[in-house]
Amino acid sequence: HRARIEFDPRFTVAEVPDRLFGSFVEHLGRCVYTGIYEPEHPTANEDGLREDVLELVRELGPTMIRYPGGNFVSGYRWEDGVGPKEDRPRRLDLAWGVTETNQFGLGEFMKFCRTVGVEPNMAVNLGTRGLQEALDLFEYANHPSGTHWSDLRRSHGDEEPYGIKLWCLGNEMDGPWQIGQRTATEYGRVADQVARSLRMIDGGDDLDLVACGSSSRGMPFFGAWENEVLTHTYDSVDYISAHAYYHPLDGDVVSFMASAQDMELFIDGVIATADAVGAKLKSDKKINISFDEWNVWYQTAPSGERPEPWSVAPRQLEDHYSAMDAVVFGSLLITLLRRSDRVTAACLAQLVNVIAPIMTEPGGPAWRQTTFFPFAEASRYGRGTVLNVNADSPGFDTAKYGEVAALHSVAVANEDGSVTVFAVNRDLETPMTLEIDASSVRVGDVTVSTLTGERDAKNTLDDPERVAPVANEHVTVKDGTISVELPAMSWNTIRIV
Ligand code: AHR
Repeated sequence: HRARIEFDPRFTVAEVPDRLFGSFVEHLGRCVYTGIYEPEHPTANEDGLREDVLELVRELGPTMIRYPGGNFVSGYRWEDGVGPKEDRPRRLDLAWGVTETNQFGLGEFMKFCRTVGVEPNMAVNLGTRGLQEALDLFEYANHPSGTHWSDLRRSHGDEEPYGIKLWCLGNEMDGPWQIGQRTATEYGRVADQVARSLRMIDGGDDLDLVACGSSSRGMPFFGAWENEVLTHTYDSVDYISAHAYYHPLDGDVVSFMASAQDMELFIDGVIATADAVGAKLKSDKKINISFDEWNVWYQTAPSGERPEPWSVAPRQLEDHYSAMDAVVFGSLLITLLRRSDRVTAACLAQLVNVIAPIMTEPGGPAWRQTTFFPFAEASRYGRGTVLNVNADSPGFDTAKYGEVAALHSVAVANEDGSVTVFAVNRDLETPMTLEIDASSVRVGDVTVSTLTGERDAKNTLDDPERVAPVANEHVTVKDGTISVELPAMSWNTIRIV
C-alpha cells in the first residue's frame, strides 16, 4: 500500500481552538472519588487531590474540563457540594443508581482546575431544576461580592469570583434516560431564558453558552432537534453540543476502524442545520459545535452494568482500552482537528477511571490507558494552524460506510515553524508507505512516533506499560518528500522540525 499527502502552509483551515482539547469530569463511578479526589491516598495533597493523578493529567494536556455531568447534572443540587464538608447531605443519584456524598463540589473542582491549569466548563441542571437555580449558581460562582450567593462563596473561603466563562445549558435533554427529559420546544424555550438571564449578570457579553444538541447522530429526532432548539436560542447561545461514542457493533471491527466517518457526517449534519436556522433568521452569526462528549465506549461491556444499588463510588464504565481502540480514538481526534473551523470546543469523555485515558486503584497506583497517548500527542503538537491536506490513499471496504480511505491524516503548522502530521492507518491488515510532499516547508529533522500492537493489547494494573508509542525509524527524506512506513492499525505523530 502507498498513500501520499501534500499541503502548503499558505492554505489553511483554521487556527486550532484552545478548547478543542477539553476533557470531562462527571460525578460518576470513580471519576471523582478515588479518581482525582482521594484524601486518604498516600499522594493526596492538602486539598485531597491525588498528586499522581494530577501529574498524569498535566502530561495528558487537557485545556478545559466540563463538570459535573453528564447525566448526573440533571438531578444535581449544586448547593449540596459547597460549604463545610461535614454539613453536606448524602443524596440519591438517580442517573447512575448510587449515593452521592457531596464531599467534592464546585469549590473543590475550581481548585482542581487551578492546580492543573485548565479552563472550567460548568453545566447547569435543566432536568429537575430551571432558571432560578441556574442564576443562583452563576451568582455564587461569578459575582464578586455583596449579595447572598456571592457572600456565601466568600464565607466558604473563595474571596475572588471564579469567572467561569463557558456554561452548558443542561445535558442530553433529548434522551429518554435523562432525568427531566424535554421536548425540543420545551428545552429550546428554557435554554433561551437561562441564556438571556445569565447574560444579565456580570460579564454577560463575555460568556460562551452551549445549548444541548442531539445525544448522538442516531437519535430519532436528530436534525429536527437542533433545528427547533436553535430556532429558540440562535441569538442567545454560542455553541450547539454533539456527543458520540463508538465501539465495534456485532464484532464488526473493520467498520469500527472507520468510526470517524460517522463523526464527520454528524458534524456535517449539525453545521448544515445550524446554518439553515441562521439563514432563515437572516443572521450573520455562526453557531459552532461543542463536541463535548466523544470517545470509544463499549456500552455493552460488563463494566457498564448497574452496581450494588445506592453504593458510593462503585466501579462503573471502567473500559480498558486496547491498541485498536487507541487508533480509532486517534482518528476521532484527527476529525476534530480537521473540522476545527466549526468544532471550536470538544471534551474527551471522561478524564479518570470512567471511559478514561487515566486509571487508578483506590490507595494504589495510577496509569496511562492506550488512549492516553494520542490525546497527549495531539494536545502537545496539534497547536497552531490546521492546514488543508490533499490526500491520495488506498481504500478498504466496510460494511457500514462502504469504501473508506485507509489513511486518515491532518497537518498542523505549529507556531515555532515546525509542522506536525497526525496519520492513522485504518487498515487492520496492511501496512502502508506514506509519502509526504513537504516541498512547501523547510525540512530539518523528521521524527516519527508510532503506536500500534496486538489488537487486544491493553495497559492494566498488572502490566501498565504494555502499549505505548515508540520511535519509528522507518523514515527517509529525499528531494522534499518524506517517506514513512505506517504499520497496519497504527497512530503516528510525524514531526517535521
Ligand atoms: O459520559 C457518560 C455519559 O454519556 C454521560 O453522563 C452522558 O451525558 C452520556 O450519555
